[in-house]
Amino acid sequence: MENAIAGVIRHLGASLKNRGLYPPMHPLVRTPVEKCRMELAPFFADRSELALTVSDGTLVLEGVPIFQLTSSLELFMARLGAIGLPAIIFERGISVEDIELFVRFLHETKEQGLPIPEIKARLARWGVTHIRVTATEEEEKDDFTLAREIYGNALGVVVRALKDVRNGKTPDGAESDRAVREMSGMVSRNRDAMLALTLIKNFDEYTYNHSVNVSVLSLTVAETLGLPDTERIGIGVAGLLHDVGKTQLALNLIRKPGTLTVEEFEEIKKHPEEGFVILGKMTHIQESTRSVVREHHMRFDRTGYPRPEPEYRMNPHSHVIAVADCYDALTTMRSYQKARTPQQALEIMRKLAGKSLDPDLVELLERSLGVYPVGTMVRLNTMEVGVVTGAPDGGRSEPKVVILFDRAGNTLAAPEGVDLREPDPFSGRPRRMIIGIVNPLMHPPVAMKGVLQAVMG
Ligand SMILES: [Fe+2]
Ligand SMILES: [Fe+2]
Repeated sequence: MENAIAGVIRHLGASLKNRGLYPPMHPLVRTPVEKCRMELAPFFADRSELALTVSDGTLVLEGVPIFQLTSSLELFMARLGAIGLPAIIFERGISVEDIELFVRFLHETKEQGLPIPEIKARLARWGVTHIRVTATEEEEKDDFTLAREIYGNALGVVVRALKDVRNGKTPDGAESDRAVREMSGMVSRNRDAMLALTLIKNFDEYTYNHSVNVSVLSLTVAETLGLPDTERIGIGVAGLLHDVGKTQLALNLIRKPGTLTVEEFEEIKKHPEEGFVILGKMTHIQESTRSVVREHHMRFDRTGYPRPEPEYRMNPHSHVIAVADCYDALTTMRSYQKARTPQQALEIMRKLAGKSLDPDLVELLERSLGVYPVGTMVRLNTMEVGVVTGAPDGGRSEPKVVILFDRAGNTLAAPEGVDLREPDPFSGRPRRMIIGIVNPLMHPPVAMKGVLQAVMG
């Protein structure tokens, strides 16, 4: 067994090494991959997967450490370490193509320390199907835990960036870039988990959560648009930092309830340009990201601020941020406004479409969020009230619902997940159907926190 194990790794390493010297279809690249596939086959006779981990600098396959290090093996380990891959799982049914694509991934990925969700998203996009990567072999975190960590991390990045600006320092652009890459990976992997977190509307820390929410919503739209990675990251970073220029404004102005005076509004109007200047000093920021931050209030019909000259060409990505910004602001409770339900917010935005907002993007946001966006409170035909916790297939399939209140309006001791496709044993038709939307504010016993808890499980 040990020899066979060493063989698997040796072939992988050899292919990777030769990949750096010869073209992809060269026999010295291709043959080791075929041999690797052959060596793997016997393992799957009595198991469905095989785990390869790196622990304390030693390569371990199925618990057996590999000590016979050759130069190609060392290269293989070094690549795993550099990319940030602590564990790989080969699954039964693995093909030569899977291994080939994986070797290509190891060869071509130049970034260091990629977050696991990002690695997973990339492998999925490349079409690798029987090779999985995990944080460590035993404790794979569930998506919601992971999403929460990623969201929390991005929040920390925003807090630090704004603090730096306030202290006259330039924020670290690499941090924003990394946080957005993680969020982008998570949006591809489990959009509902990430969107559920945008329900966090912290009134006092509005700007921080708002920044992360706009980033997540923009990334969701960017993914639905099918934009390439670099553009997605650019949009996500613009979302994260779009209001960074507000740090130059007095806090009491940002938090001021009610309408602003003309002078105060003139002050507010400066924040996109301030943001543009701040981003210009940061590293790891794409030029287009800067422009998007400057343009996020210009509006689709160009009636916003700073007012563009007639010949000025706006970056189309600025409209993505504007749509995300608007949606998050409308669904947030502020001192001067009630939070709207996702449906109310989208209805208002439909009226703004073609005027201040790009109509195609409003439609696209609606489509990305689904008919019942995650977090929507709904009443069922059984008169139970629950919350939507998932919108499978971008909202095309039946939403997942967790019941919070029974038909008499009593809070359930434990929220109960129900399947809307489950048929009634007598009629054969679905037992439960959504008949309407409930405004959480009209339903006093449930705070947003309760809704969020239900969503997060
Ligand atoms: Fe803004
Ligand atoms: Fe904003």
